[in-house]
Amino acid sequence: MTTDPTTDHTSAKPSTTESGAPRESDAHSLSIGPNGPLLLHDVALVEKLARFDRERIPERSPHAKGSGAFGELEITEDVSRYTKAKLFQKGTKTPMLARFSTVAGELGSPDTWRDVRGFALKFYTQDGNFDIVGNNTPVFFVRDPMKFADFIHSQKRTPDSGLRDNNMQWDFWSLSPESAHQVSYLMGDRGLPRTWRHMNGYSSHTYMWINEDGEKFWVKYHFLTEQGMEFLTNEEAGELAGKDADFHRRDLFDSIKRGDHPSWRLEVQIMPYEDAKTYRFNPFDLTKVWPKKDYPRIPVGRFTLNHNPTNHFAEVEQAAFSPANTVPGTGVSPDKMLLGRIFSYPDAHRNRLGTNFNQLPVNRPVVPTNSYDKEGAMQYFHSGDAPVYAPNSYGRSYQDEQGPVDNGWESDGQLVRTAYSLHSEDDDFGQAHTLVREVYSEQERERLVQTVTGALLGGVVEPVLSHVFQYWKNIDQEVGENIEKAYYAQVNE
Ligand code: HEM
Repeated sequence: MTTDPTTDHTSAKPSTTESGAPRESDAHSLSIGPNGPLLLHDVALVEKLARFDRERIPERSPHAKGSGAFGELEITEDVSRYTKAKLFQKGTKTPMLARFSTVAGELGSPDTWRDVRGFALKFYTQDGNFDIVGNNTPVFFVRDPMKFADFIHSQKRTPDSGLRDNNMQWDFWSLSPESAHQVSYLMGDRGLPRTWRHMNGYSSHTYMWINEDGEKFWVKYHFLTEQGMEFLTNEEAGELAGKDADFHRRDLFDSIKRGDHPSWRLEVQIMPYEDAKTYRFNPFDLTKVWPKKDYPRIPVGRFTLNHNPTNHFAEVEQAAFSPANTVPGTGVSPDKMLLGRIFSYPDAHRNRLGTNFNQLPVNRPVVPTNSYDKEGAMQYFHSGDAPVYAPNSYGRSYQDEQGPVDNGWESDGQLVRTAYSLHSEDDDFGQAHTLVREVYSEQERERLVQTVTGALLGGVVEPVLSHVFQYWKNIDQEVGENIEKAYYAQVNE
């Protein structure tokens, strides 16, 4: 991303007003006599104050605190039998931007509070921008977009005190059994990654790939850190939150600045299109992973982050990532959460950045755009005097696709509101139990018990408390009992 080519920010030239005239002073306002009143026609002062008053834009509604860097994705393996997408062809190198974030905190909140971390990627491909807007966990708290706003409200601040509130968080979780898997990740070590460089990223959702022959596959993306997974302890994270609220932002910036470029391996899980219909659980349920024994990970390539933004606001704060940004050879899936997000992100961008957000340098595709959309606040690029309607008789290309789309799926049935589809192992607690009992070591389970107990002691009251004990017993009887025992042991101390 570049600075405005018409301005010279480097040499020691006198400052100008924003309309380009010399600015008389950056130190002294115009007054009647040295101690006299100020004058409204002091353009330099009025402009400086008015611009300052407008520096803040709305922060992202979730994922407000974060930072990012630019880099490159290189495809090292041949996956052309699964996708024709140009960016995934062997040998292709694609410039990209990554942004990492916390979910619940506001713009200034500490990086090391326990939370899921955002893992958002934008690839500037030869077919337009392709974004994967994932997290550092492969699952999510809810499986229906109708619940997303309520979930985020429960993690943010109470209406009366404006404080974060453990009771509110656990109330939502313990009454939403589908959150069990993600909460088990969050209360485990992954809730406190040592740095952004030391965590994995996941698309979490299932997406679609389509090959040259029109064959479709379901795909999950995994970005595996080449720095190794590392975590903070509760004590380290708490101390850092006070000492250096920007610990993760600083770590990424400093490591790239000193030439230590972090990288992640891209691997995918591929499910043949037809398998989805008969798989033992709904493969589009965002609260579940696909076990590797059913669908092993296939190597695809690697990305490296190798340069920092030169202007955080322009290149990170104004970046607009969206799961709606797909390219030919890729597509979305029937995952309800994903379908809800397809609406929500561009809508948030129009609100946060304005309707022409795709014209900002960081969001602008590297290929020409050809759209009949026009005007709106701050339009910069336009189509000149070309026709602004379709169809037209004046040569501006107009494609009218009809019939089945190559990245679609079949759908037939009644209109319903329901949590489950028709798979035999659709449930809430099974995979959470496997994670806690089979994946976590004894020490990890002990740390989980301590972390949950600590959170409960931080203000969780009845009836939420009893709901939480039962929630953990549903996940794993022994872990639930240990949490209850540890809680009462400390309360009665
Ligand atoms: C940011 C909505 C689920 C990952 C956001 C933003 C909105 C949003 C409105 C702010 C966008 C902006 O202002 O630029 C939703 C809705 C969801 C949902 C409605 C469910 C229906 C998820 C899930 C994931 C996720 C499941 C991960 C798998 C992220 C990330 C960001 C974000 C990483 C920050 C992007 C950035 O760095 O700019 N979400 N979200 N979200 N969301 Fe979601």
